[in-house]
Amino acid sequence: MTTPWAIRAAERRDVAELLVIEREQFPEPWTKGMLMDEMANAESRRYTVAVLDGRIVGYLGVMFVLDELHVNTIGTMPGFEGRGVASSLLDEAWADATVRGIARATLEVAVSNARAIELYYRYGFKPVGVRKNYYELSHEDALVLWADLPIGPTQGPQVD
Ligand SMILES: CC(C)(COP(=O)(O)OP(=O)(O)OC[C@H]1O[C@@H](n2cnc3c(N)ncnc32)[C@H](O)[C@@H]1OP(=O)(O)O)[C@@H](O)C(=O)NCCC(=O)NCCS
Repeated sequence: MTTPWAIRAAERRDVAELLVIEREQFPEPWTKGMLMDEMANAESRRYTVAVLDGRIVGYLGVMFVLDELHVNTIGTMPGFEGRGVASSLLDEAWADATVRGIARATLEVAVSNARAIELYYRYGFKPVGVRKNYYELSHEDALVLWADLPIGPTQGPQVD
């Protein structure tokens, strides 16, 4: 699907805008140091941003563990929700993951976060368990979700 925003790799210069998303969208926002550490870990992490008219409207951070992808964080800039920003970030990450031969994806989400849970269910995630008191401040439980991804070309039959 063509979107009015573009998706590119996150860069250090994006951190100020990512912190706005963190502070306004997450009850337990990441700090600048946490974000920088995550983004610096290029071997196992992949951070992408959606950019509209030079401004960041959403971001996604995933982590690779063997042949699995873990969604570490996803957030849309306040005022830009409901337009498909998060969906397009996930679409792009899924396309990249299938090329890498990643077979499954997982994440934790607060049990009360209906909006995010609905989004994940649309991407084929299914609940497999609950982590009690997962969140440090709220002590809220997290749902553990898993999804199968389409098998990418590195694991599929070779076609000339
Ligand atoms: C959860 C979150 C990332 C979703 O981001 P988003 O950009 O609003 O997501 P999308 O727009 O891709 O999809 C959300 C909804 O918009 C709808 N939508 C998609 N494109 C649309 C469009 N062009 N116009 C109107 N609605 C649209 C989708 O159908 C979806 O509907 P739903 O509300 O029934 O689920 C966002 O709400 C957020 O940042 N939340 C706070 C942080 C958070 O909780 N992150 C998850 C932690 S696990």
